[in-house]
Amino acid sequence: MLGYTSLVALSSSSYSNAISAQPKLNMVTGSTSIYDVSTSGNIFPIDKLDLSKCSQGWGSPEADLSVDKTPLTINGVVYKSGFGTHAQSVLQINLNRSAVKFTSMVGIDDATKGQGAVIFEVVVDGKIAAKSPVMHGGDAAVPISVDLTNAKRMILIVRPAGDGINFDHADWADAQFELAPGATTTPQSATTPLEPARMIIPVTPAKPEIHGATITGATPHYRFRFLVPVSGKRPMTYFAKGLPPGLKLNMHTGIITGALPHDGKWNVKLIAKNALGTASEMFTIVGGSHKLALTPPMGWNSWNCWAGAVDQSKVADAAKEMVQTGLADYGYTYINIDDTWEAPRAPDGEIMANQKFPSMRALANKVHSYGLKLGIYSSPGPTTCAGYPASYLHELQDAQTYSKWGIDYLKYDWCSYTSVAKGTGLEYYWLPYAVMRGALNQVHRDILFSFCQYGMDDVWKWGAATGGNCWRDTGDIRDSWSSLSSIINAQIGLQKYNGPGHWNDPDMLVVGRVGWGDPHPTHLTPNEQLMHISMWSMFSAPLLIGCDMTKLDPFTLAILTNPEVLAINQDPLGKTAYLVSKTNNTEIWERPLADGTHAVALLNMGYSDKTISVSWKQLHLSGDLAVRDLWLHKNEGMHKRGISFKVPIHGVVLVKIGHFNANKA
Ligand code: GAL
Repeated sequence: MLGYTSLVALSSSSYSNAISAQPKLNMVTGSTSIYDVSTSGNIFPIDKLDLSKCSQGWGSPEADLSVDKTPLTINGVVYKSGFGTHAQSVLQINLNRSAVKFTSMVGIDDATKGQGAVIFEVVVDGKIAAKSPVMHGGDAAVPISVDLTNAKRMILIVRPAGDGINFDHADWADAQFELAPGATTTPQSATTPLEPARMIIPVTPAKPEIHGATITGATPHYRFRFLVPVSGKRPMTYFAKGLPPGLKLNMHTGIITGALPHDGKWNVKLIAKNALGTASEMFTIVGGSHKLALTPPMGWNSWNCWAGAVDQSKVADAAKEMVQTGLADYGYTYINIDDTWEAPRAPDGEIMANQKFPSMRALANKVHSYGLKLGIYSSPGPTTCAGYPASYLHELQDAQTYSKWGIDYLKYDWCSYTSVAKGTGLEYYWLPYAVMRGALNQVHRDILFSFCQYGMDDVWKWGAATGGNCWRDTGDIRDSWSSLSSIINAQIGLQKYNGPGHWNDPDMLVVGRVGWGDPHPTHLTPNEQLMHISMWSMFSAPLLIGCDMTKLDPFTLAILTNPEVLAINQDPLGKTAYLVSKTNNTEIWERPLADGTHAVALLNMGYSDKTISVSWKQLHLSGDLAVRDLWLHKNEGMHKRGISFKVPIHGVVLVKIGHFNANKA
């Protein structure tokens, strides 16, 4: 018996269909059975679809094989056809009434040797039509059968069963459609529905507006550099009242340079003027040691776009575009070179840049001339993740070289450190970062320190104490819904480890043209991109743009430069969003802000539009409170008990709630 009783079939017809859908046993060889689906005229096997459109958490979708490229095998039974994937996996299929039934055997592939746990789900026209129980590695396959009469769209989903995605190698074995009688089309795989983004793109005002962080910090006597971020028509003239001695502002470029004289706190009035008006904002400058990243770093990193194809001119272009596109006017500052810049060391051990980077010093000068800052990448082991020379036993020498070149940010990975690691437990994970922190402390330059070890040993618990300004808390991001949604959910409970100077880092942004050496427009839908930017703001995440800066489109620029959303990311209180409530398909997150108001994000994680409500009680608020929609730039009036919004598929509503004037249109 193949265990169909454990199938949870939610559509009325799927239970009986499940029984009739049992595949024919054609051949039995020893303990291994081989099933073969007969492909009569009205049967359309799933391997005929373009499976590359499947979004999944690891590996690539495979026709007729497991994600490990081995024969599809569940509990000793080998299946000839089907599709092997990995949680979290989403395959969308346009049916347009072409099929009347979908059947499949589902389970974890034997290649995991009994490991992994997943749930299979079939969504038809926005409703869950069938769902498996939690399936563990080694469990017998269960049949799934779904009535598709008149159905337009279907989604095959494999979710991790609450224990992360490791070993979640999921098989849709013998998956097939029964075509509708006389059907003139067949099912087609599709990318996620491209619903219009729930936002408006406002015209950037020509009058000056000052954006970005309201506070920055630096070590006294070290080189200070800060570009006042102002949008509006050029030419612009800049003034500052109350600058600390030792700093001066260039009134034509808006760049403040010099060095702070001593520890302290200065409240500065920044003023920007153009032909159309004047803007002014209060700004705090803090002097002291370890005062970097008082708000999350904002900038660009080469990896998600270029990976190994990065070179000096691409980095210089990114810096130039940062200014020309206006992104620098919103506070984006760091231009970070990721892996593959390194050459073998010189005979005296000094790290060299390879031929792709003829002069790091010249590059730093160029980047600094815009008022921006330059970042670099290394690893604590002998080699980096891409196999280039890394900092093991050269930490101080490398820190000195970075300082000499004019580097302002170091992303420090983990790869290959395992081969030289000593100690156990915390010491094992912490030591390489403590060693590099010690090295950075010895150079007379402010270098922001970013750990990149994917959250091992709960880095958030010791990252700040080890002198990290931010630390990656998950594996690498990809431009897929499965990656985005699983990284969002990996942040649950981590808010308490965040604060000014030290931030959880859920990885770099995947909007615009990304592609790790082969750029393509992001595979995230417009609404998923809004969710990405909204949640990275709610999480106080570093905002490192990961796309080709020379090909920014208006939509990408608009979602990166919404001042009301960026103000949440840069909020000086530094308290990060916590999860208020979560159902299968909705999430509510809340973040307290420095001005006493609250940012709230309503997320639709499902595949149909949802009305999401939140009460003031859930948010521990009360009274008559103003509500403003930050993507629609719209005041929603006063509310006494709570609010409800319609949220599109994989979309977000981001609101600010509290005491402010919300009756203005
Ligand atoms: C990974 C890291 C990526 C990128 C890459 C370079 O470990 O997570 O963001 O830096 O290494 O090889």
